[in-house]
Amino acid sequence: MSGTSLDGVDGLLVEFTDRSQPEPLSASPLQLHAIGFSSRHLVGTLREQLFALQTPGPDELSRAALAAIQLTDLYAEVVAELIATAGLQPQDIQGLGAHGQTVRHRPELGYTLQLLAPARLAEQSGIDVVADFRSADVAAGGQGAPLVPAFHAALFDAPGRARAIVNLGGIGNVTRLDGLGGVSGHDTGPGNLLLDAWCHRHTGAVFDEDGAWGMQGTVIPDLLARSLAEPWFSLPAPRSTGRDLFGLRWLEDRLNGHENPVDVQATLVALTAETVHRACLGADSVYVCGGGARNSALMRAIRSLCAPTPVSTTDALGLPAHAVEAAAFAWLARERMTQRAAGRPTVTGARGARILGAVWPAPL
Ligand SMILES: Nc1ncnc2c1ncn2[C@@H]1O[C@H](COP(=O)(O)OP(=O)(O)OP(=O)(O)O)[C@@H](O)[C@H]1O
Ligand SMILES: [Mg+2]
Repeated sequence: MSGTSLDGVDGLLVEFTDRSQPEPLSASPLQLHAIGFSSRHLVGTLREQLFALQTPGPDELSRAALAAIQLTDLYAEVVAELIATAGLQPQDIQGLGAHGQTVRHRPELGYTLQLLAPARLAEQSGIDVVADFRSADVAAGGQGAPLVPAFHAALFDAPGRARAIVNLGGIGNVTRLDGLGGVSGHDTGPGNLLLDAWCHRHTGAVFDEDGAWGMQGTVIPDLLARSLAEPWFSLPAPRSTGRDLFGLRWLEDRLNGHENPVDVQATLVALTAETVHRACLGADSVYVCGGGARNSALMRAIRSLCAPTPVSTTDALGLPAHAVEAAAFAWLARERMTQRAAGRPTVTGARGARILGAVWPAPL
Protein backbone atom coordinates (compact mmCIF):
# COMPACT_ATOMS: atom_id res chain seq x y z
CA MET A 1 0.00 0.00 0.00
CA SER A 2 1.15 3.52 -0.76
CA GLY A 3 -1.45 6.11 0.10
CA THR A 4 -2.17 9.75 -0.51
CA SER A 5 0.25 10.95 2.21
CA LEU A 6 3.09 9.92 -0.14
CA ASP A 7 5.06 8.92 2.96
CA GLY A 8 6.05 5.44 1.84
CA VAL A 9 5.16 1.89 0.93
CA ASP A 10 3.72 -0.39 3.62
CA GLY A 11 3.76 -4.16 3.18
CA LEU A 12 2.02 -6.79 5.27
CA LEU A 13 2.35 -10.55 4.95
CA VAL A 14 -0.87 -12.02 6.19
CA GLU A 15 -2.63 -15.35 6.43
CA PHE A 16 -6.41 -15.48 6.31
CA THR A 17 -8.54 -18.29 7.59
CA ASP A 18 -12.29 -18.57 7.72
CA ARG A 19 -13.69 -19.91 10.95
CA SER A 20 -16.45 -22.42 10.36
CA GLN A 21 -18.10 -21.31 13.62
CA PRO A 22 -17.99 -17.58 14.31
CA GLU A 23 -17.29 -16.77 17.94
CA PRO A 24 -20.38 -15.62 19.85
CA LEU A 25 -19.36 -11.96 20.01
CA SER A 26 -18.17 -11.73 16.44
CA ALA A 27 -20.30 -11.88 13.33
CA SER A 28 -17.15 -12.30 11.34
CA PRO A 29 -15.91 -15.70 10.26
CA LEU A 30 -12.70 -14.03 9.05
CA GLN A 31 -9.50 -14.54 10.99
CA LEU A 32 -6.35 -12.68 10.17
CA HIS A 33 -2.85 -13.60 11.23
CA ALA A 34 -0.26 -10.92 10.52
CA ILE A 35 3.05 -12.67 9.82
CA GLY A 36 5.24 -9.68 9.07
CA PHE A 37 5.24 -5.94 8.37
CA SER A 38 7.77 -4.04 6.31
CA SER A 39 7.90 -0.52 4.91
CA ARG A 40 10.07 1.85 2.90
CA HIS A 41 9.97 5.63 3.04
CA LEU A 42 9.42 7.46 -0.21
CA VAL A 43 12.45 9.72 -0.60
CA GLY A 44 14.45 11.73 -3.13
CA THR A 45 13.52 12.13 -6.76
CA LEU A 46 10.81 9.45 -6.72
CA ARG A 47 8.92 11.30 -3.98
CA GLU A 48 9.44 14.61 -5.81
CA GLN A 49 8.20 13.09 -9.06
CA LEU A 50 5.10 11.58 -7.43
CA PHE A 51 4.32 14.93 -5.83
CA ALA A 52 4.85 16.75 -9.13
CA LEU A 53 2.59 14.26 -10.93
CA GLN A 54 -0.32 15.17 -8.63
CA THR A 55 -0.87 18.27 -10.76
CA PRO A 56 -0.79 18.72 -14.55
CA GLY A 57 2.64 19.37 -16.05
CA PRO A 58 4.75 18.84 -19.18
CA ASP A 59 5.64 15.38 -20.48
CA GLU A 60 3.36 13.68 -17.96
CA LEU A 61 3.04 10.38 -19.81
CA SER A 62 6.69 9.43 -19.77
CA ARG A 63 7.28 10.89 -16.30
CA ALA A 64 4.34 8.85 -15.00
CA ALA A 65 5.55 5.65 -16.65
CA LEU A 66 9.05 6.08 -15.21
CA ALA A 67 7.75 6.92 -11.73
CA ALA A 68 5.51 3.83 -11.87
CA ILE A 69 8.55 1.68 -12.62
CA GLN A 70 10.58 3.15 -9.75
CA LEU A 71 7.67 2.80 -7.35
CA THR A 72 7.16 -0.80 -8.46
CA ASP A 73 10.80 -1.57 -7.66
CA LEU A 74 10.24 -0.19 -4.16
CA TYR A 75 7.15 -2.40 -3.78
CA ALA A 76 9.25 -5.38 -4.94
CA GLU A 77 11.89 -4.61 -2.27
CA VAL A 78 9.24 -4.54 0.44
CA VAL A 79 7.80 -7.84 -0.79
CA ALA A 80 11.21 -9.53 -0.99
CA GLU A 81 12.00 -8.42 2.57
CA LEU A 82 8.66 -9.66 3.90
CA ILE A 83 9.12 -13.09 2.35
CA ALA A 84 12.77 -13.45 3.37
CA THR A 85 12.08 -12.38 6.96
CA ALA A 86 9.31 -14.97 7.21
CA GLY A 87 11.63 -17.67 5.81
CA LEU A 88 9.25 -18.28 2.89
CA GLN A 89 9.53 -18.57 -0.91
CA PRO A 90 7.46 -16.67 -3.51
CA GLN A 91 5.61 -19.90 -4.36
CA ASP A 92 4.35 -20.01 -0.75
CA ILE A 93 2.42 -16.78 -1.33
CA GLN A 94 -0.97 -17.01 -3.02
CA GLY A 95 -1.28 -13.44 -4.15
CA LEU A 96 0.02 -9.92 -3.83
CA GLY A 97 -2.39 -6.99 -3.62
CA ALA A 98 -0.74 -3.79 -4.83
CA HIS A 99 -2.63 -0.51 -4.78
CA GLY A 100 -0.17 1.80 -6.59
CA GLN A 101 0.04 5.55 -6.16
CA THR A 102 -3.03 7.63 -6.85
CA VAL A 103 -2.15 10.62 -9.02
CA ARG A 104 -5.65 11.58 -10.16
CA HIS A 105 -9.05 10.74 -8.70
CA ARG A 106 -11.89 12.01 -10.88
CA PRO A 107 -14.68 9.43 -10.71
CA GLU A 108 -17.17 12.05 -11.93
CA LEU A 109 -15.19 12.09 -15.20
CA GLY A 110 -15.06 8.28 -15.26
CA TYR A 111 -11.50 7.69 -14.10
CA THR A 112 -9.19 7.21 -11.17
CA LEU A 113 -5.51 6.66 -11.81
CA GLN A 114 -3.03 4.70 -9.70
CA LEU A 115 0.55 4.48 -10.92
CA LEU A 116 2.12 1.03 -10.81
CA ALA A 117 3.66 -1.47 -13.23
CA PRO A 118 1.89 -4.68 -12.13
CA ALA A 119 3.44 -6.93 -14.80
CA ARG A 120 6.88 -5.82 -13.64
CA LEU A 121 5.92 -6.52 -10.01
CA ALA A 122 4.73 -10.04 -10.93
CA GLU A 123 7.97 -10.61 -12.84
CA GLN A 124 10.17 -9.35 -9.99
CA SER A 125 8.30 -10.94 -7.10
CA GLY A 126 7.38 -14.26 -8.71
CA ILE A 127 3.88 -13.86 -7.24
CA ASP A 128 0.48 -13.32 -8.89
CA VAL A 129 -0.29 -9.62 -8.55
CA VAL A 130 -3.72 -8.05 -8.13
CA ALA A 131 -3.85 -4.34 -8.95
CA ASP A 132 -6.13 -1.65 -10.39
CA PHE A 133 -8.67 -2.17 -7.61
CA ARG A 134 -10.75 0.93 -8.23
CA SER A 135 -11.59 0.96 -11.96
CA ALA A 136 -14.38 -1.63 -11.97
CA ASP A 137 -16.33 0.29 -9.34
CA VAL A 138 -15.84 3.57 -11.23
CA ALA A 139 -16.92 1.87 -14.48
CA ALA A 140 -20.12 0.87 -12.66
CA GLY A 141 -20.78 4.52 -11.81
CA GLY A 142 -19.21 4.39 -8.34
CA GLN A 143 -16.65 6.59 -6.62
CA GLY A 144 -14.10 3.76 -6.58
CA ALA A 145 -13.40 4.86 -3.00
CA PRO A 146 -13.27 4.20 -0.17
CA LEU A 147 -12.76 0.45 -0.75
CA VAL A 148 -11.72 -0.46 2.80
CA PRO A 149 -15.22 -0.49 4.42
CA ALA A 150 -15.84 -4.00 3.02
CA PHE A 151 -12.71 -5.21 4.79
CA HIS A 152 -13.50 -3.32 7.99
CA ALA A 153 -16.91 -5.00 7.95
CA ALA A 154 -15.45 -8.46 7.31
CA LEU A 155 -13.05 -8.13 10.23
CA PHE A 156 -14.52 -5.69 12.75
CA ASP A 157 -18.29 -6.17 12.57
CA ALA A 158 -19.90 -7.34 15.81
CA PRO A 159 -23.61 -7.87 16.48
CA GLY A 160 -25.23 -5.15 18.51
CA ARG A 161 -22.22 -2.80 18.34
CA ALA A 162 -22.46 0.41 16.36
CA ARG A 163 -18.82 0.92 15.46
CA ALA A 164 -17.08 3.61 13.47
CA ILE A 165 -13.69 2.76 11.99
CA VAL A 166 -11.75 5.86 10.94
CA ASN A 167 -8.71 5.63 8.71
CA LEU A 168 -6.51 8.73 8.89
CA GLY A 169 -4.23 8.56 5.86
CA GLY A 170 -3.57 11.52 3.61
CA ILE A 171 -7.32 11.59 3.15
CA GLY A 172 -9.59 10.40 5.96
CA ASN A 173 -12.34 7.85 5.54
CA VAL A 174 -14.94 6.32 7.82
CA THR A 175 -16.71 2.98 7.92
CA ARG A 176 -19.94 2.73 9.89
CA LEU A 177 -21.00 -0.72 11.08
CA ASP A 178 -24.51 -0.61 12.50
CA GLY A 179 -24.26 -3.87 14.43
CA LEU A 180 -27.11 -5.33 12.37
CA GLY A 181 -25.01 -6.22 9.32
CA GLY A 182 -25.32 -2.81 7.64
CA VAL A 183 -22.19 -1.14 6.26
CA SER A 184 -21.80 2.43 5.10
CA GLY A 185 -18.82 4.69 4.64
CA HIS A 186 -17.32 7.64 2.85
CA ASP A 187 -14.25 9.85 2.73
CA THR A 188 -14.25 12.48 5.46
CA GLY A 189 -11.88 14.98 3.76
CA PRO A 190 -8.28 15.83 4.60
CA GLY A 191 -6.72 13.42 7.10
CA ASN A 192 -3.02 14.23 7.28
CA LEU A 193 -2.20 15.73 3.92
CA LEU A 194 -2.80 19.40 4.71
CA LEU A 195 -1.13 18.95 8.10
CA ASP A 196 1.91 17.42 6.38
CA ALA A 197 2.10 20.06 3.65
CA TRP A 198 1.79 23.03 6.01
CA CYS A 199 4.25 21.56 8.50
CA HIS A 200 6.75 20.91 5.71
CA ARG A 201 6.48 24.44 4.39
CA HIS A 202 7.06 26.06 7.78
CA THR A 203 9.33 23.65 9.64
CA GLY A 204 10.96 21.56 6.88
CA ALA A 205 9.78 18.33 8.53
CA VAL A 206 7.70 16.00 6.30
CA PHE A 207 5.14 15.61 9.09
CA ASP A 208 4.43 17.06 12.52
CA GLU A 209 5.85 14.35 14.79
CA ASP A 210 3.24 13.48 17.39
CA GLY A 211 1.45 16.73 16.53
CA ALA A 212 3.92 18.54 18.80
CA TRP A 213 4.24 21.69 16.66
CA GLY A 214 0.51 22.11 16.04
CA MET A 215 -0.14 21.65 19.75
CA GLN A 216 1.66 24.96 20.42
CA GLY A 217 -0.85 26.89 18.31
CA THR A 218 -4.36 28.20 18.87
CA VAL A 219 -7.31 27.41 16.62
CA ILE A 220 -8.37 30.34 14.41
CA PRO A 221 -12.20 30.18 14.51
CA ASP A 222 -12.71 32.17 11.27
CA LEU A 223 -10.34 29.98 9.33
CA LEU A 224 -11.98 26.84 10.71
CA ALA A 225 -15.41 28.16 9.72
CA ARG A 226 -14.22 29.12 6.20
CA SER A 227 -12.68 25.67 5.82
CA LEU A 228 -15.77 23.82 7.01
CA ALA A 229 -17.85 25.89 4.57
CA GLU A 230 -16.19 23.97 1.71
CA PRO A 231 -19.18 22.56 -0.23
CA TRP A 232 -17.56 19.10 -0.48
CA PHE A 233 -18.14 18.62 3.28
CA SER A 234 -21.87 19.02 2.78
CA LEU A 235 -22.17 16.52 -0.05
CA PRO A 236 -24.20 13.46 0.82
CA ALA A 237 -22.49 10.06 0.62
CA PRO A 238 -21.26 8.51 -1.59
CA ARG A 239 -18.34 10.91 -1.60
CA SER A 240 -14.62 10.57 -2.07
CA THR A 241 -11.82 13.03 -2.60
CA GLY A 242 -8.08 13.42 -3.03
CA ARG A 243 -5.28 15.85 -3.69
CA ASP A 244 -7.22 17.05 -6.74
CA LEU A 245 -9.26 19.17 -4.31
CA PHE A 246 -7.46 19.27 -0.96
CA GLY A 247 -3.96 20.60 -1.64
CA LEU A 248 -2.05 23.60 -0.29
CA ARG A 249 -3.81 25.73 -2.92
CA TRP A 250 -7.14 24.94 -1.25
CA LEU A 251 -5.74 26.10 2.10
CA GLU A 252 -4.12 29.23 0.66
CA ASP A 253 -7.46 30.25 -0.82
CA ARG A 254 -8.81 30.42 2.74
CA LEU A 255 -5.94 32.31 4.39
CA ASN A 256 -5.77 36.09 4.74
CA GLY A 257 -1.97 35.99 4.87
CA HIS A 258 -1.64 37.36 8.40
CA GLU A 259 -2.08 34.13 10.32
CA ASN A 260 0.58 32.72 12.57
CA PRO A 261 1.71 29.44 10.88
CA VAL A 262 1.46 27.40 14.07
CA ASP A 263 -2.12 28.61 14.59
CA VAL A 264 -2.95 27.47 11.06
CA GLN A 265 -1.56 24.04 11.95
CA ALA A 266 -3.74 23.93 15.09
CA THR A 267 -6.72 24.88 12.94
CA LEU A 268 -5.97 22.07 10.47
CA VAL A 269 -5.94 19.63 13.39
CA ALA A 270 -9.34 20.98 14.42
CA LEU A 271 -10.61 20.65 10.83
CA THR A 272 -9.68 16.98 10.54
CA ALA A 273 -11.04 16.31 14.03
CA GLU A 274 -14.36 18.05 13.34
CA THR A 275 -14.92 16.20 10.06
CA VAL A 276 -14.16 12.91 11.82
CA HIS A 277 -16.51 13.82 14.66
CA ARG A 278 -19.36 14.55 12.21
CA ALA A 279 -18.76 11.21 10.48
CA CYS A 280 -18.93 9.30 13.78
CA LEU A 281 -22.13 10.76 15.25
CA GLY A 282 -24.31 8.02 16.71
CA ALA A 283 -21.56 5.40 16.99
CA ASP A 284 -21.10 3.49 20.29
CA SER A 285 -17.35 3.44 19.84
CA VAL A 286 -14.75 4.84 17.45
CA TYR A 287 -11.57 3.04 16.34
CA VAL A 288 -8.86 4.98 14.51
CA CYS A 289 -6.23 3.52 12.18
CA GLY A 290 -3.66 4.90 9.71
CA GLY A 291 -0.72 7.17 10.39
CA GLY A 292 -2.94 9.87 11.95
CA ALA A 293 -3.46 7.57 14.95
CA ARG A 294 0.15 8.43 15.87
CA ASN A 295 -0.61 12.14 16.04
CA SER A 296 -1.46 12.80 19.71
CA ALA A 297 -2.77 16.30 19.01
CA LEU A 298 -5.21 14.89 16.46
CA MET A 299 -6.27 11.99 18.67
CA ARG A 300 -6.81 14.36 21.60
CA ALA A 301 -8.95 16.69 19.48
CA ILE A 302 -11.03 13.77 18.15
CA ARG A 303 -11.51 12.36 21.66
CA SER A 304 -12.62 15.68 23.02
CA LEU A 305 -15.18 16.25 20.24
CA CYS A 306 -16.53 12.68 20.32
CA ALA A 307 -16.81 12.47 24.15
CA PRO A 308 -18.42 10.61 25.82
CA THR A 309 -18.14 8.12 22.94
CA PRO A 310 -14.89 6.21 23.54
CA VAL A 311 -12.18 6.65 20.91
CA SER A 312 -9.33 4.15 20.65
CA THR A 313 -7.21 2.68 17.86
CA THR A 314 -7.82 -0.57 15.98
CA ASP A 315 -5.09 -2.09 18.14
CA ALA A 316 -7.95 -2.61 20.61
CA LEU A 317 -9.64 -4.82 17.99
CA GLY A 318 -6.49 -6.86 17.40
CA LEU A 319 -5.04 -5.18 14.29
CA PRO A 320 -2.38 -2.45 14.75
CA ALA A 321 -3.39 0.94 13.35
CA HIS A 322 -0.45 1.09 10.92
CA ALA A 323 -1.27 -2.31 9.35
CA VAL A 324 -4.97 -1.91 8.55
CA GLU A 325 -4.73 -0.38 5.07
CA ALA A 326 -2.14 -2.91 3.91
CA ALA A 327 -4.25 -5.73 5.38
CA ALA A 328 -7.26 -4.38 3.50
CA PHE A 329 -5.52 -4.65 0.14
CA ALA A 330 -4.26 -8.16 0.95
CA TRP A 331 -7.88 -9.07 1.68
CA LEU A 332 -9.13 -7.34 -1.47
CA ALA A 333 -6.57 -9.37 -3.47
CA ARG A 334 -7.88 -12.53 -1.86
CA GLU A 335 -11.45 -11.61 -2.73
CA ARG A 336 -10.37 -11.01 -6.34
CA MET A 337 -8.52 -14.29 -6.63
CA THR A 338 -11.54 -16.18 -5.33
CA GLN A 339 -13.83 -14.25 -7.71
CA ARG A 340 -15.85 -12.61 -4.96
CA ALA A 341 -17.33 -9.16 -5.43
CA ALA A 342 -15.73 -6.88 -2.83
CA GLY A 343 -17.36 -3.71 -4.16
CA ARG A 344 -19.90 -2.11 -1.81
CA PRO A 345 -22.49 -0.10 -3.76
CA THR A 346 -23.91 1.32 -0.52
CA VAL A 347 -20.51 2.95 0.05
CA THR A 348 -19.36 3.94 -3.43
CA GLY A 349 -22.67 4.45 -5.21
CA ALA A 350 -21.87 1.92 -7.95
CA ARG A 351 -24.85 0.33 -9.67
CA GLY A 352 -23.80 -3.10 -8.41
CA ALA A 353 -21.19 -4.99 -6.40
CA ARG A 354 -18.24 -5.59 -8.68
CA ILE A 355 -15.26 -7.94 -8.53
CA LEU A 356 -12.43 -5.49 -7.88
CA GLY A 357 -8.97 -5.60 -9.41
CA ALA A 358 -7.20 -7.37 -12.24
CA VAL A 359 -4.66 -10.19 -12.04
CA TRP A 360 -1.16 -10.18 -13.51
CA PRO A 361 0.11 -13.77 -13.27
CA ALA A 362 3.58 -14.62 -12.02
CA PRO A 363 5.97 -16.18 -14.54
CA LEU A 364 5.26 -19.92 -14.80
N1 LIG B 1 4.58 9.81 14.68
C1 LIG B 1 3.71 10.49 13.94
N2 LIG B 1 3.26 11.69 14.37
C2 LIG B 1 2.38 12.42 13.63
N3 LIG B 1 1.90 12.00 12.44
C3 LIG B 1 2.32 10.81 11.97
C4 LIG B 1 3.24 9.99 12.69
N4 LIG B 1 3.45 8.86 11.96
C5 LIG B 1 2.70 8.97 10.85
N5 LIG B 1 2.03 10.15 10.84
C6 LIG B 1 1.15 10.67 9.80
O1 LIG B 1 0.63 9.60 9.05
C7 LIG B 1 0.88 9.78 7.65
C8 LIG B 1 1.02 8.45 6.97
O2 LIG B 1 -0.14 7.70 7.23
P1 LIG B 1 -0.62 6.53 6.30
O3 LIG B 1 0.55 5.78 5.79
O4 LIG B 1 -1.67 5.81 7.06
O5 LIG B 1 -1.30 7.37 5.14
P2 LIG B 1 -1.40 7.11 3.61
O6 LIG B 1 -0.09 6.58 3.10
O7 LIG B 1 -1.91 8.36 2.99
O8 LIG B 1 -2.49 5.99 3.47
P3 LIG B 1 -4.00 6.02 2.85
O9 LIG B 1 -4.20 7.26 2.05
O10 LIG B 1 -4.05 4.82 2.00
O11 LIG B 1 -4.91 5.87 3.98
C9 LIG B 1 2.12 10.66 7.60
O12 LIG B 1 2.17 11.40 6.41
C10 LIG B 1 1.90 11.56 8.83
O13 LIG B 1 1.04 12.62 8.52
MG1 LIG C 1 1.40 5.62 3.91
